[in-house]
Amino acid sequence: MKELVNKLQDYKTPFYWYDLQLLEKTLSIIKKESDNYGFNVHYALKANANLPILKIIKEYGFGADCVSGNEVLRSLEAGFSSTEIVFAGVGKSDEEITIGLENDILSFNVESVPELEVINELAHKLNKKAKVAFRLNPNVDASTHHYITTGLEENKFGINMRDMDGVLAILKQLKNIELTGIHFHIGSQITDMKVYEKLCYRVNEIQEWFNTRNIHLAHINVGGGLGINYNAPEKDSIPDFKTYFKVFADYLKLQPKQQLHFELGRSVVGQCGSLITKVLYVKNGTKTKFAIVDAGITELIRPALYQAFHTIENLSSERLEETYDVVGPICESSDFFRKGILLPETKRHDLIAIRSAGAYGEVMASRYNLRNIAKAYYSDSL
Ligand code: LLP
Repeated sequence: MKELVNKLQDYKTPFYWYDLQLLEKTLSIIKKESDNYGFNVHYALKANANLPILKIIKEYGFGADCVSGNEVLRSLEAGFSSTEIVFAGVGKSDEEITIGLENDILSFNVESVPELEVINELAHKLNKKAKVAFRLNPNVDASTHHYITTGLEENKFGINMRDMDGVLAILKQLKNIELTGIHFHIGSQITDMKVYEKLCYRVNEIQEWFNTRNIHLAHINVGGGLGINYNAPEKDSIPDFKTYFKVFADYLKLQPKQQLHFELGRSVVGQCGSLITKVLYVKNGTKTKFAIVDAGITELIRPALYQAFHTIENLSSERLEETYDVVGPICESSDFFRKGILLPETKRHDLIAIRSAGAYGEVMASRYNLRNIAKAYYSDSL
């Protein structure tokens, strides 16, 4: 990113910087690799809901995966087709469900019986039939950080298979619901492809279960979760979508005419974004030097929340390396990006890039300490 330093100098820090060329390159690879097998990709807005970014993603013909009424509205604003929207979340409000119903979305990914009953009731009022997929808990361990593991029985997400017979009995009485599929999402930042293989085996077993009950499912949705390389954002800027989709093609037994859907977030936008921040002060501590920068947990909470690793670069300095704790200005001890790292000698006003911040960066920003929300700037599109 060093070559950009003169251009980046122009903007007020901190800000998010998006490399739209990398985004487009990533999108064309996803398109090519998923089209190989006729798979349907929905972009998970929760990773980054920035309008210019959404508009580009939409151009590649993907659907949207939403977890709130506002995300449904935002995806429509960006031009995603309402019939390509899936809507998940354990706690959809009546208002949010109504937004989905009014827009005839592709599927509500339903996470509990009480939710199913409310969707039925609201659909009845609107004289509609809601298309739903059951989010099932496959009890597959994603081997990722426990805060972003979602597919275990102990997690709050999804319905457990042992409750399914009871759920189907209730479903029979709900006249305004059409069951169209089953949905899974086992976690995020998954880099071990074996985990997806395991998910496929489990989905096959679950499909068998539905088959023996004569239930045909029009679609299977395996969620998202494909990880990115936080250690090498430059060298490994595009995840291995080829292998990823091939695992599903090889191991998941689709039935005739059944469609396979994905909900990818981080792998789509993670590497195209950086958080750019300026050094305010360099302070000598007892053990280390602190590089105090003008961004903090308010712009990127991932290191504090998940002990997440982000590559940090000093874009302004070629000087000899020294050890620093890179910390933010927020009044919390957890407000640091990394501790004890080597950076070229760092001075006040140097520009620092915190890489791989395109996913779960800007969307998780807060106004804590009454800070302003940082702006986003974009490299020109192709
Ligand atoms: N589908 C569902 C139902 C999800 O819950 C998620 C992410 C996705 C798809 C997209 O997953 P992805 O492809 O982005 O891994 N804030 C955390 C990540 C939370 C993920 C929440 N769910 C982080 O910064 O690591």
